[in-house]
Amino acid sequence: MKIGFFDSGIGGLSVLYEARRAMPRADFLYYADCDRAPYGEKTEAEVQAYVFSAVEFLLSKGAEAIVLACNTATSVAIRALRERYTVPIIGMEPAVKRALDLSPEGRILVTGTPITLRGDKLRELIGGLDAAHRVDLLPLPGLVKFAERGEFSSSAVEEYVRGELLPFHLPDYSVLVLGCTHFNYFKDTLAAVLPPTVRIVDGNEGTVRQLIRRIGGVPTDGTGELTCYISDRPVTDPAEQARIATLLARLDLLFQGEA
Ligand code: DGL
Repeated sequence: MKIGFFDSGIGGLSVLYEARRAMPRADFLYYADCDRAPYGEKTEAEVQAYVFSAVEFLLSKGAEAIVLACNTATSVAIRALRERYTVPIIGMEPAVKRALDLSPEGRILVTGTPITLRGDKLRELIGGLDAAHRVDLLPLPGLVKFAERGEFSSSAVEEYVRGELLPFHLPDYSVLVLGCTHFNYFKDTLAAVLPPTVRIVDGNEGTVRQLIRRIGGVPTDGTGELTCYISDRPVTDPAEQARIATLLARLDLLFQGEA
């Protein structure tokens, strides 16, 4: 079975990483729309058009299920995609429920792109779960730009994160939610900047669990092949292949402790 993964760029590789670990024999297509990233500060209409064209592309390459490994794309396009296509389409949204379940007290800081954080989808999710008003929102679009240029742990990254967290009284917080797949690459910097009592949660595991459920179990018929595309171009250039390999190696390092 071929499963198509989509993200505006390299962020969704973090979800793909988990999926490959859980389904070593499934074949994957990964579409990174790096030419048009970042999405988070564009208009909803622009992003929706990009997502439709990428999904159409993945289906033309034989994808039998689609994972929107992008909270921003999910926020603006998942309803319309499910109306148009019959293949399973799995989306991502910030792990607010998990954060609230993990921490019966304390504040929750949900990070994401501006589109995701202002979207109705997230507002509805929080409205239905957060009766005690414990959730705060923090857009971090700068991290997407750092990630796309491969800058993960520089002093500029740390300064940006510290600056954005400045208005928050961090000892009040117990969980920080990574509501953008690009933010996974910064787990180490975030952990260094946040008080040690703040847990960092992502939505990767839940998404993979949902994927397995929607496709009827872990596929056993493939060879574990991964084919990557950058905005419709197959990744054949050795420099681009090396870039993907380096990113997967970084994820290996960051996620090792969580296995
Ligand atoms: N990785 C994406 C997300 O999960 C979006 C990043 C962007 O392009 O702004 O929201």
